[in-house]
Amino acid sequence: MIEDQYCARTPGSAALYAQACRVLPAGLTHDSRATSPHPIYVARAAGPRKWDVDGNEYVDYFGGHGALLFGHSHPPLVEAVQRQAALGTHWGASHELEVRWAELVQRLVPSAERVRFTGSGTEASQLALRLARAYTGKTKIMRFVGHFHGWHDAVAPGGMSHYDGSVPAGIPASLIGESLLLGADDAAPALEALQGRDDIAAVIVEPSGASWGQVPLPPGFLAALREATRRHGVVLIFDEVITGFRWSRGGAQARYGIVPDLTVLAKILAGGLPGGAVAGAKDILDQLDPGAAKAAGREKIGHQGTFNANPLCAAAGVAALSLVEASDACARAEAAADELRTGLRRILVEGGVPWGVFGEASVFVIFPNPARLLLDPANFDPLELGFKGLKGARDPQLNNRLRVALLAHGVDIAGGPGGFVSAAHGPREIARTLDAWRAALRSLKREYTVR
Ligand SMILES: Cc1ncc(COP(=O)(O)O)c(C=O)c1O
Repeated sequence: MIEDQYCARTPGSAALYAQACRVLPAGLTHDSRATSPHPIYVARAAGPRKWDVDGNEYVDYFGGHGALLFGHSHPPLVEAVQRQAALGTHWGASHELEVRWAELVQRLVPSAERVRFTGSGTEASQLALRLARAYTGKTKIMRFVGHFHGWHDAVAPGGMSHYDGSVPAGIPASLIGESLLLGADDAAPALEALQGRDDIAAVIVEPSGASWGQVPLPPGFLAALREATRRHGVVLIFDEVITGFRWSRGGAQARYGIVPDLTVLAKILAGGLPGGAVAGAKDILDQLDPGAAKAAGREKIGHQGTFNANPLCAAAGVAALSLVEASDACARAEAAADELRTGLRRILVEGGVPWGVFGEASVFVIFPNPARLLLDPANFDPLELGFKGLKGARDPQLNNRLRVALLAHGVDIAGGPGGFVSAAHGPREIARTLDAWRAALRSLKREYTVR
């Protein structure tokens, strides 16, 4: 059994998980780290690899939930953080690094006339909605089913669950009416709503499509949204928490040549440490400036946050974005991902496995065909399945088995299933991953999980 093989390799992780379950609910600190029968407990990492407490080595594609464009513990980032830790982690004051960090964002991200840092992507998403509502004087937010914008109440329904728009436990039912949750398989419903309603403050979208492109958007979708939001005075927000500094140096907006009004950033932004930002049009961000807000006849928008642009995260962010700007890291990660996607697909074809592999830029997405559709892995087109057939059809058990089978062969992917390729992944890692993929598919086939 796949699980037996996994458990035999990971007794130290199993013991830690048992201990964790006595203190952490579900033994976890993030829903996406759930792995059955137990997660691996990591002890150290370097470049594209990490090691668990039992000494097993993994090629890592979880990539710090997408935060690590340069791989783990990239020496210039380590050095920047170490230097800063000795100088102070929180000065409770303004400092030069936050200015340099914002300037880098401004240079790299086309929409970034102004930048406000936050503690996380979730906080940035919350601030972007607040700014948009205040700016337009309207309240409704248009969102798309399965697009994840962090875990705050306003964006929880339909993000990772409750795709029918119903109310998840713990979320006030009154909030449901504040969002307009639409499908994104086709732009028509969004365009009709923008045309027909006058209460929409903002449209927020993952420009990759839901969950870093697990459900790609149809061609022309973003351009149509841009045109319609501009025409109807609605703020267009790109959530570039994943795509920022990954889809290209300037994110998805630079890759596609479509500039939103506001951009939500995090992950690579802070060089592998916590941090987020809202970047965007000066007029909208200036609501955070008492003088500018007053001059524009607007109320100043409140925004606090103890760890906003703290020196440690700012130092990591400056080091990371300086490298994004000066190096070809995005292109190298993308080239490695391309090679990986091609190899994964080739092995599906060779083994007659009716699954799909796809993905853009430096991510890969695996479609493990839970409904056992007849499909040709050589010509798989995710757009033909849409949300319902992709993220909406997920089989968590099958995804977990695939993940565990790969872990048992020394590869860690994200639960999507899929993963993030860094600029540190090279031919050795790809070759090893392809061997693990072949072996994992063989095990899954043996156990009739794959036909
Ligand atoms: C697209 C997107 N938006 C927002 C967030 C929330 O960011 P954070 O986890 O930093 O709160 C995430 C996190 O994965 C994300 O992928």
